Amino acid sequence: MTAEPDGLHNIFDTLFAGMRSARAAFVPALVPREIGTVTSIATGVAKVSGLPGVAFEELVIFAGGVLGLAFNVDASEIGVVLLGDYASLQAGDQVERTGRVMDVIVGDALLGRVIDPLGRPLDAAGPITAEARLPIERPAAHIMDRAPVTVPLQTGIKVIDALIPIGRGQRELILGDRQTGKTAIAVDAILNQRGQNVLCVYCAIGQRASAVAKTVAVLREHGAMEYTVVMVTEGNNPPGLTYIAPYAATSVAEYFMQAGRDVLIVYDDLTQHARAYRELSLLLRRPPGREAFPGDIFYIHSRLLERATHLREDLGGGSITALPIVETEAQNISAYVPTNLISITDGQIYLSPSLFELGVLPAVDVGKSVSRVGGKAQHAAYRAAAGDLKLAYAQFEELETFSRFGAQLDDGTRAVIAHGQRIRACLKQSEFAPVPVLGQIAILIALAARLFDAVPVDDIPLAEQALLAAVEAIPQDLRGRFDRGEKLTDADRAAITAICTNALARFAP
Ligand SMILES: Nc1ncnc2c1ncn2[C@@H]1O[C@H](COP(=O)(O)OP(=O)(O)O)[C@@H](O)[C@H]1O
Ligand SMILES: [Mg+2]
Repeated sequence: MTAEPDGLHNIFDTLFAGMRSARAAFVPALVPREIGTVTSIATGVAKVSGLPGVAFEELVIFAGGVLGLAFNVDASEIGVVLLGDYASLQAGDQVERTGRVMDVIVGDALLGRVIDPLGRPLDAAGPITAEARLPIERPAAHIMDRAPVTVPLQTGIKVIDALIPIGRGQRELILGDRQTGKTAIAVDAILNQRGQNVLCVYCAIGQRASAVAKTVAVLREHGAMEYTVVMVTEGNNPPGLTYIAPYAATSVAEYFMQAGRDVLIVYDDLTQHARAYRELSLLLRRPPGREAFPGDIFYIHSRLLERATHLREDLGGGSITALPIVETEAQNISAYVPTNLISITDGQIYLSPSLFELGVLPAVDVGKSVSRVGGKAQHAAYRAAAGDLKLAYAQFEELETFSRFGAQLDDGTRAVIAHGQRIRACLKQSEFAPVPVLGQIAILIALAARLFDAVPVDDIPLAEQALLAAVEAIPQDLRGRFDRGEKLTDADRAAITAICTNALARFAP
């Protein structure tokens, strides 16, 4: 009889004790929520009032879940850049502070995926579970944390690797008019990173959806998606989303770099990015400057590209190599955005529409292209093999113009032109056909030894194929030393020359 109430008491006692301790542990806290009101909406931007504490570039959230960035922070009114579909937003809607800056998901889970700058998947491969998040705007590495560029980034494109070499951690601008092969070069560079232990980020900015789909299909077809993240904003996205895209993509790349990886990032292209920023600035009534761009257009690109670097060994030794693309109009490389980018980057690859029309592809204008740091990182064999190639080619280009006037040419001039035509033919390359380093070196050695001069120009592509096939016969020990980046000895060069001579013999008439 007595046991039961006692048992009950015990149960109630422990229950109450639990509740008492839970109540003691509970500290009621007031969480301030700052809620403001939309005063007006325009294309891609909103004016907001009543958020006195909002910080510059703070993320705010509108009634329907649309995100925005506080861009103009005035005492009376805040200009917000909208990052989502704003069609349903109205004046009078509520808007709330989030207290955090814009960030993006990062990590290995993104490899092989196509995402937008907010980290939402655009492919059909399901949701992405984030390893971590990073703010999209981050300070660049300090000077003292950076290491010199010493490792080459092979693009597999002969004219670039030989004459305009790029190193890991470098920023090399690709510029040219529309339809000159800018995207093709960047995509080829990504394809060539297969098996090179380099991760890639391709950031498509304000492109047509069909163009992006084509690029993604090419990457997938060549097995490059395994090591690539594609971040996309399309032409019809809000300008705010286009504006944040390259910063978000860089954060994705930075996460890999800080884990000690080498990363290649392509921004395709920053002309569209600058236009989106101009649109936002004009809508927010910031004063326009040259070409109606706002005054800080230089800063938005320099702070982006400063994040590409090679970190010191004790910080993991990772790197970000950046290939920003900029589109010129009517070959005007002295327009505002191109000149800014030329001065920010460590060199440029200029693509010429006239070469493109002549069928000289890739249409790289060697005379107007330069790489300011990659030369030090270039494989030692190039320096010996490609030494006077640039000079010979420049001489040829100059003489070629004269010879078009039907001038009488002496033998010496004719030889220079004939040799130049072979150089040009050997530097031609179709898309999606990267040439391995040893193959490139063999071609350069054969060119320098004038082995191609006897081959008719029209047969050069075939002769080149034969030569590349013959490279397989290069002895293993030479190959091993070559792969370790050692300089070729005279004997090595002689061995390669002999193989090339053999391969090319049947093409000479
Ligand atoms: N090396 C090449 N060989 C053959 N075709 C090329 C080469 N490079 C580019 N193309 C072609 O030229 C066109 C324009 O190239 P694209 O890279 O889209 O130009 P851009 O990005 O400068 O507008 C595409 O159809 C592409 O396939
Ligand atoms: Mg393009």
